[in-house]
Amino acid sequence: MSPDPVHIEILLTDPGSRDGRRLTSPFVEVYGEWTLPLFPDRPWVMVNFVASHDGRVSYALPDAMGGGSVAGHCPADTWLMGLSRARADAVMVGDSTLRIEPEHIWTPRFIHPSWSEEFTRLREHDGLRPEPLQVFLSLDGRLPDHAAVYEDPTLEILVVTTTEGRRHLSGSPLASRVEIMVAGDERVDPTVMMAGLRRDHGVSVLLCEGGPRVYGSLLGAGVVDEVLITRSPLVIGASPDHPRPSLVEGVAFEPGTSPRVVPRMIGRSGDHLLVRHDVEWPHRGES
Ligand SMILES: NC(=O)c1ccc[n+]([C@@H]2O[C@H](COP(=O)([O-])OP(=O)(O)OC[C@H]3O[C@@H](n4cnc5c(N)ncnc54)[C@H](OP(=O)(O)O)[C@@H]3O)[C@@H](O)[C@H]2O)c1
Repeated sequence: MSPDPVHIEILLTDPGSRDGRRLTSPFVEVYGEWTLPLFPDRPWVMVNFVASHDGRVSYALPDAMGGGSVAGHCPADTWLMGLSRARADAVMVGDSTLRIEPEHIWTPRFIHPSWSEEFTRLREHDGLRPEPLQVFLSLDGRLPDHAAVYEDPTLEILVVTTTEGRRHLSGSPLASRVEIMVAGDERVDPTVMMAGLRRDHGVSVLLCEGGPRVYGSLLGAGVVDEVLITRSPLVIGASPDHPRPSLVEGVAFEPGTSPRVVPRMIGRSGDHLLVRHDVEWPHRGES
C-alpha cells in the first residue's frame, strides 16, 4: 500500500532547542521538527485527544461513544495519531475506553494503514520494539472479556492496576495473556506507574490517548509533558439529560495551581486545527 498524501498547513511552529528523539524524513516534510526529550527515571508523557469546539470528547450516545464521531473525517488527524503512536514505546488508555472500543488496536498501522511501512521504518530508526506496548489502566482489574487487542499475538499487553485489581485479574482468563503492574493499593498512583514503566518496561516515551478521567488523573499528579489536541469544528454541547465528558474530568485545580497548556505548533487541515502544546507547571517555577 502506498502512503496517501497528507497535507498540514503549518500556521505556527516553535519547536525549541531541546535534545532527544528527533523526527525523521518523510515526517518532517509534513509536520516539521518535533523532538521528544528522554529521561533516565521516567517517560516523556504525551497526551492525544480530539475535542470539539466546546471541548467535548464524546457524544456519549450508544452509537457515538468514541472520538471518531468527534473528529469526523480528518485524515490528518489519524495520520498524526499514527505518528505519535509510532514514536511511543507504549500507548495507554483507561479501561472505559477499551470497553467502548473493543475492536480498536492502539498501533500506528491500525489507525492509519497506508503509512504502515513508514511508521515501521521510523520505529526501526528509533530502536523501538515493532509495536508499542499496549497499556490499560484499571482500578478493579475488570477488563472486557473480548477485545481485538487480545487476539493479536504480536502485541504485548500490560495492565496497570491496584492490589485488589491484581487479585481479580490473576484469577481471570486474561491472566495468561497480560502482564500486570500494581501501582497503588486503592488508586493507581501515576507517579509510581511512570517510574515502573521506565524502570521495568523500558518506556522512554509514553502516549496516553485518554480518556478524560485518566488525563485528569495524570494532570492531577503533574506527570504530563506534551499535549496534542485535534480541534474539530463541531459543537457537541451538553445538558442535564445529556452529560458529555470534556477533555479533563475528575480533577479540579485551585487558582494559582493550574498547569498551563501552551501551544507550540499549530497546523490546519481542512476545518480542523492540529495543536501541539507543552505543559508548564507552576510548582516547577515556570511562568
Ligand atoms: N475524543 C477522544 O480523543 C477520546 C479519547 C479517549 C476516550 N474518549 C472517550 O472518553 C470516554 C471514556 O472516558 P472515561 O473518562 O469514562 O474513561 P477512561 O479515562 O478511559 O477510563 C477511566 C477508568 O480508568 C481506570 N483508572 C485506572 N487508574 C486510573 C486513574 N489513576 N485515574 C483515573 N482512572 C483510572 C478506572 O477504571 P475502573 O474504575 O473501571 O477500574 C476508570 O474508570 C469514552 O466515551 C471514550 O470514547 C475520547
